[in-house]
Amino acid sequence: MPPTILDGKQLAKTIRKELAVEVADFVKNKNCTPTLAAVLVGSDPASEVYVRNKRRDCEKVGIQSNLHELPAETTQEELLALIDQLNQDADVHGILVQLPLPSQISTEPVLEAISPAKDVDAFHPENVGRLVQGRPLFHPCTPQGVVELLRRNAIPTSGQNVVIIGRSDIVGKPLSIMLAQKGADATVTLCHSRTSDLPAVARQADILIVAIGRANFVTADMVKPGATVIDVGINRTEAGLVGDVDFEAVSEVAGAITPVPGGVGPLTRVMLLVNTLAAARRLES
Ligand code: GUN
Repeated sequence: MPPTILDGKQLAKTIRKELAVEVADFVKNKNCTPTLAAVLVGSDPASEVYVRNKRRDCEKVGIQSNLHELPAETTQEELLALIDQLNQDADVHGILVQLPLPSQISTEPVLEAISPAKDVDAFHPENVGRLVQGRPLFHPCTPQGVVELLRRNAIPTSGQNVVIIGRSDIVGKPLSIMLAQKGADATVTLCHSRTSDLPAVARQADILIVAIGRANFVTADMVKPGATVIDVGINRTEAGLVGDVDFEAVSEVAGAITPVPGGVGPLTRVMLLVNTLAAARRLES
C-alpha cells in the first residue's frame, strides 16, 4: 500500500488562514499590528530568498515585517547597535537575524543580544533553557513544524519510539527535548555520526526524523514497515532539491512520509508567524 503523503504545503496554508483571523482579532482589540524586524547582513543569495519568503508569509496573514539590510562589511558593533535599537522599539515584537552571518561577526553574542521576549527563532540560551524546563516563551520553528505536522495528521507520539538522526542545535537537539516532554511522551533516541549500527537503531523507530543534511542518506533498509518518516533535509543537488531520505525507495516501506520540498519546510515558515503573534500578545498584554 502506498504511504500517506504528509503534505506540509497544504497544512501551512490551512494554518495561515487560521492565523490571519487571529491576527485580525489582535489588530482590532489592541489597535496595533504584530511586527517582525528581519535583519539581513550581506547578500548571500539563499538568505535573500529565505528572508523574502518569510516577509511574503507575514504579509499573507497581516503581520508587518520591516527589513533591515546591512552591508556585508558591517561590524559586530554596528549589528549589536541595531539589535539594541530593535530591542528598545516598542513597535517591534519579533526580531529575526538571518543566519549565516559574515565571517567577521560572531554569531553567539549576536543571538544573545536579542531580547528573549522578541526572540522568535528561540535561539537565545535563555529560551533554550526555558524549553528544556518545559516552560518556553517560543518553540523553535523547525522542531515545532515537525510536532505540528504529526499532531495535525493525527500521528500519536505518546509511548512511541522516536528516532532522530542529527543532533544540531536548531533541529535534532531541541526536537528530542520537545518530543520527550510531558504531553508528547515519546521515547526518544538521538542519533549522530558516532552512533553504532545506525540502520538497526533507525529500524526501531515508529517515527523516524532525519535532519543531517546528507542527500538520500536514509534508505529503505533503515525503516520499519509502516513507520512514519519525517525528512527535515533540504539538499541542493544536480537533480534539484532533495531531502535526507531516499523518497522513492523509502515510500515502498513507510506508512507515512513527508515530501521534499513541500513537507516540513512550509511549516517551519508558518511557525515564525505563530511566534511573532505570540510575542506581540505577550508584549502588548
Ligand atoms: N538560516 C537558516 N535557517 C535559519 C533559521 O531558522 N533562522 C534564522 N534566523 N536564520 C536561518
